[in-house]
Amino acid sequence: MGRRALRKIDPNLDLTRHLFAVEELEESFDPQSLFERDAPLEIEVGCGKGLFLENVSTTRPEHNFIGVEIAKKYARFAAARLAKTNSSNAVMFQGDAWRFVRDFIADHTVTGIHIYFPDPWWKERHRKRRIMNAAFIKDIERILVSTGRLHFRTDVKEYFDSTVELIAASSKLTGPQAVPELTGTNELDALTHFERRMRLNDRVVYRSEFIQPT
Ligand SMILES: C[S@@+](CC[C@H](N)C(=O)[O-])C[C@H]1O[C@@H](n2cnc3c(N)ncnc32)[C@H](O)[C@@H]1O
Repeated sequence: MGRRALRKIDPNLDLTRHLFAVEELEESFDPQSLFERDAPLEIEVGCGKGLFLENVSTTRPEHNFIGVEIAKKYARFAAARLAKTNSSNAVMFQGDAWRFVRDFIADHTVTGIHIYFPDPWWKERHRKRRIMNAAFIKDIERILVSTGRLHFRTDVKEYFDSTVELIAASSKLTGPQAVPELTGTNELDALTHFERRMRLNDRVVYRSEFIQPT
């Protein structure tokens, strides 16, 4: 399934309050300083075009959301969605989510981590590029608050199974908890662009949540 070209971003749109770069962060960075008020923090890794971030930040205004996307054009596109709605509780970071989480997120400060349809890196020799590796899972465990959740979805059964095994072997997170399939018939009910495409193509999606023990 190829990707459609991105719509043009309005050149007059001011992205300065919604788009930041991981590489420009300083050691003293405090994620809550990006928002109008402190609130439970959730992070989405690999946001693509930012559909989830835009929707969830509107439906859950009582939380703050940070999206991290390595591809510049997608990070800008997702930030533009947030700038258009003048979001006060969601921002985008362009850069590597591994580095962002490892170097800038303090222990037990995050309520939810969302990872939807990460690149599967099919070839054996490319597997080490998969976002879900043992070091990142350890970092997820480190930053989640007690009862905080990792939300993980993929359409690749082998990636799902190996991630479940890796989480069991390298962390104390409990799960996988099954997440029911969306019941709406409207394709727009999907969480992300990839999930929407999976629905349109009748593809199976493996959905799960893992919980930080108390
Ligand atoms: C297959 S797409 C899925 C996008 C979106 N989550 C969805 O479901 O529509 C995976 C995304 O993860 C991004 N990505 C891959 N590695 C990353 C990393 N280390 N840090 C941040 N984003 C990453 C890719 O650029 C891509 O946009």
